[in-house]
Amino acid sequence: MDATQFLKAAAYRRTCYALTNTSKVSDGRIVEIVKEVLSFAPSSYNMQSARLSVVLGKKHEEMWDAIIEAAAPIFEGAGVWGAMEPILEASKNSYGSVLFFESETTINAAKEAHASAAHMFSELSDHASGMHQILVWTALELEGLGANLQHLNAIPSVEPIIRTFSGFSPEEAAPLRLKAHLNFGDEVDTHPTSPAKLPVSETLRVVK
Ligand SMILES: Cc1cc2nc3c(=O)[nH]c(=O)nc-3n(C[C@H](O)[C@H](O)[C@H](O)COP(=O)(O)O)c2cc1C
Repeated sequence: MDATQFLKAAAYRRTCYALTNTSKVSDGRIVEIVKEVLSFAPSSYNMQSARLSVVLGKKHEEMWDAIIEAAAPIFEGAGVWGAMEPILEASKNSYGSVLFFESETTINAAKEAHASAAHMFSELSDHASGMHQILVWTALELEGLGANLQHLNAIPSVEPIIRTFSGFSPEEAAPLRLKAHLNFGDEVDTHPTSPAKLPVSETLRVVK
């Protein structure tokens, strides 16, 4: 293995919205992928604040019904329901999701253990969550699924509803903060191509 293979694999990941409620990848393989990511993904001081849930099939649909019910009046009030409804319905019509939580209990313990860096840990936990997200997202797509990342936790009243579908006990779930939500399923269309990127003349400097 070399970096060329890794970069090619990483570049394959795309945001795919048109998904079905089926999966050509078995539930067992999906769970295996998420377990594997948890076994090697990095975190600051190796604090391991990530807590992940795989929500599949009927439970995924039930979760999205609950999300949509709670989010609809808020989006209606903001005048964006027309734009948001098809996105939420598409999420519901995918096969499953991976929920990316971070444990406040673990983060607080790390703050105490490493007091001089305490002010950084919330941000570092976000970074580590992002690393878990990109690894799971890419791996699921390399297996042939499509996926998209959502943040319905942006609505404070929706996050506790999503947490009830985490599979963690109420005591375990209480200190968990949802960072992102990856929907996945079989792709309806051909795999999307990469969106346009800024020229590296704007985004990169090499200094030596
Ligand atoms: C940190 C982050 C947050 C994102 N949040 C959302 C989101 O809430 N909803 C959504 O539809 N897409 C979301 N996206 C997907 C981006 O819109 C998408 O990655 C970007 O347009 C590039 O397309 P690509 O994923 O196909 O490379 C997010 C992506 C990142 C990296």
